[in-house]
Amino acid sequence: MRLIAFCLALLLALACTESEQVPSDPSYSGDVQPLFNMSCVGCHGSAQQNGSYRLDSRTGAMGEGSDPIPNVIPGKPDSSKLYQRLDLGTMPPSGPWDEMKVQTVKNWIAKGANDN
Ligand code: HEC
Repeated sequence: MRLIAFCLALLLALACTESEQVPSDPSYSGDVQPLFNMSCVGCHGSAQQNGSYRLDSRTGAMGEGSDPIPNVIPGKPDSSKLYQRLDLGTMPPSGPWDEMKVQTVKNWIAKGANDN
């Protein structure tokens, strides 16, 4: 019984630490670009530009891609295609990101998609 209680406490502690790790005001270079480097630039970078879209720089991320509408609308994550794809889980195609990563990008857009 004690072991179960200990494990539950540990899980709870881990869950809490995780949610605290989502920065409320993420930095593009420190928090956002590293996430894109891990799972997006292979298809949206120097080698391939799927959807005419690059995620290897902030300028690329702000771009329009396959239609004339910018993929990031500062302050409006829900209207930003970049966030929509992550939230729907359709990007990356290998499977949806965990909530923390999606929230980091959402917060970055919500705070104005700063070049920081
Ligand atoms: C295996 C290749 C692949 C990977 C990895 C990938 N994408 Fe894509 N992405 C595509 C393809 C192909 C398209 C164009 C077709 C479409 O719109 O679904 C696309 C389109 C998009 C678009 C729409 C671009 C536009 O303006 O039409 C966004 C936004 C996007 N991807 C975001 C991401 C993000 C964010 C990641 C990383 C989390 C990612 N993608 C990883 C293949 C990939």
